[in-house]
Amino acid sequence: MTIGFILNGEDVTVQTEANFRLVDILRHNFHLLGAKEGCLSGRCGVCSVFYNGRVVPSCMIPVFMVQGNEVVTIEGFALTEEYQDIAGGFAQAGVKTCGYCDTAKILATESLLASNSRPERDEILAAFGGVLCRCTEPETLARGVAAAAEIRRRRIYGQSV
Ligand code: FES
Ligand code: FES
Repeated sequence: MTIGFILNGEDVTVQTEANFRLVDILRHNFHLLGAKEGCLSGRCGVCSVFYNGRVVPSCMIPVFMVQGNEVVTIEGFALTEEYQDIAGGFAQAGVKTCGYCDTAKILATESLLASNSRPERDEILAAFGGVLCRCTEPETLARGVAAAAEIRRRRIYGQSV
């Protein structure tokens, strides 16, 4: 079957099998490897993408559903100022980025900061319920997200916030 959709801001078309999932075509057809294959059952978050602006596990999206929709992967998001806010906050707090769950952590952070510019610790920890990270303590992650939020506020509103 042929599927057309918007991928990282560009119109794309792909020939695929009807039983494929979004994560399959991202990795195997477009060679975008930032969405990893982990649990393949919607629990670990390592295959996360923005799908029509919402963070979803791409292993749970059958390919036929992608037709006409918009997908942004970590590779596309990495080109934005918003990504730089998060990378800066994570570096400041010492959040580990071993490569396995980075996509999940970064997209979950963006999803939270897009709706809450000053999240509290408990809100941050709740937002990461679907992210399995073996390398970073939750408290360190919470400090990284709070630092990213501060970097973003300063970028947008200046030194006074
Ligand atoms: S691989 Fe998709 S949620 Fe785990
Ligand atoms: S940074 Fe290694 S699993 Fe999360």
